[in-house]
Amino acid sequence: MNWRHKCLLDLDDWTREELSLFLEQANYMEELLNRPIKKVPALRGKMIVNFFFEPSTRTRVSFELAEKMLSADVVNWSASGSSVSKGETLRDTAWTLESMGADAVVMRHGAVGAADYLARKLRKASVFNAGDGTHGHPTQALLDLHSAWKKLGSLEGAKMVIVGDVLHSRVARSDIKAFSKMGVKIVLSGPATLMPRDITCLGAEYEPDPKVAVKDSHMVYLLRIQQERQRQGLIPSLDEYHVRYGATEDLLKFARPDALVMHPGPINRRVEIASEIADGNQSIILDQVRSGVAVRMALLYLCVGGGK
Ligand code: CP
Repeated sequence: MNWRHKCLLDLDDWTREELSLFLEQANYMEELLNRPIKKVPALRGKMIVNFFFEPSTRTRVSFELAEKMLSADVVNWSASGSSVSKGETLRDTAWTLESMGADAVVMRHGAVGAADYLARKLRKASVFNAGDGTHGHPTQALLDLHSAWKKLGSLEGAKMVIVGDVLHSRVARSDIKAFSKMGVKIVLSGPATLMPRDITCLGAEYEPDPKVAVKDSHMVYLLRIQQERQRQGLIPSLDEYHVRYGATEDLLKFARPDALVMHPGPINRRVEIASEIADGNQSIILDQVRSGVAVRMALLYLCVGGGK
């Protein structure tokens, strides 16, 4: 199969076959990462700009590591200290970077559609969405899929429960697209105040009680509670949220005994997840982080390196 995607804005137009091929490619990259000499010359001579308007640890660092493992030249740009503070627009900033020779731009931005806008404005460079507002976080979904697939094998017929602030979650939106394409049944759970109005549009069911939702689930995926939302009165208190919706030993008794516990990070201990669960046997949170580098290597190799 020839790889047809130059950019990754979200996963709407990826087929199941492309996702499967991608997972195999990410496995190959993971094997490279386990070798004593990890670096390969696949992107030698390519310049990649990491263009972050919002804070990030996992996404920014793993993209940078992936770019360096593939021998790309890497430029890390952040809004603070740049000419954005003098009023330069996103489009002019991106054109400036492209004129300096950027072959690809990895962007995180607070505005929904920012990556799509950039892809339409840039003349040649690939664009990778590292999170745009509440819209999408497709590389997070790919690494989630990769880490679950490695543990469970075929995901066809598996059940995933996503618990928490779906309303504001770009991760949930991209995960629903990725996992449902692979045949996973998705159930959303959490307070109704943290759910989008029309959940069925997302292609998922809703069960408000997480103890009911997690029954027979293979994956329990906790979303970060954005603590600033608490001030908007969407949840009564963080303590009450933890008791009613947090991943605790009590909640996991209702899931399959081997259910995987997942979280995109950063985690709020004692809010959406108890420490004994985050650090427990069922947690694959750090496997997700490890998959992040291999997945981003695979993406850059296929889209920028002309991989087959
Ligand atoms: N999961 C995730 O996007 O984490 P960062 O915000 O640290 O990149």
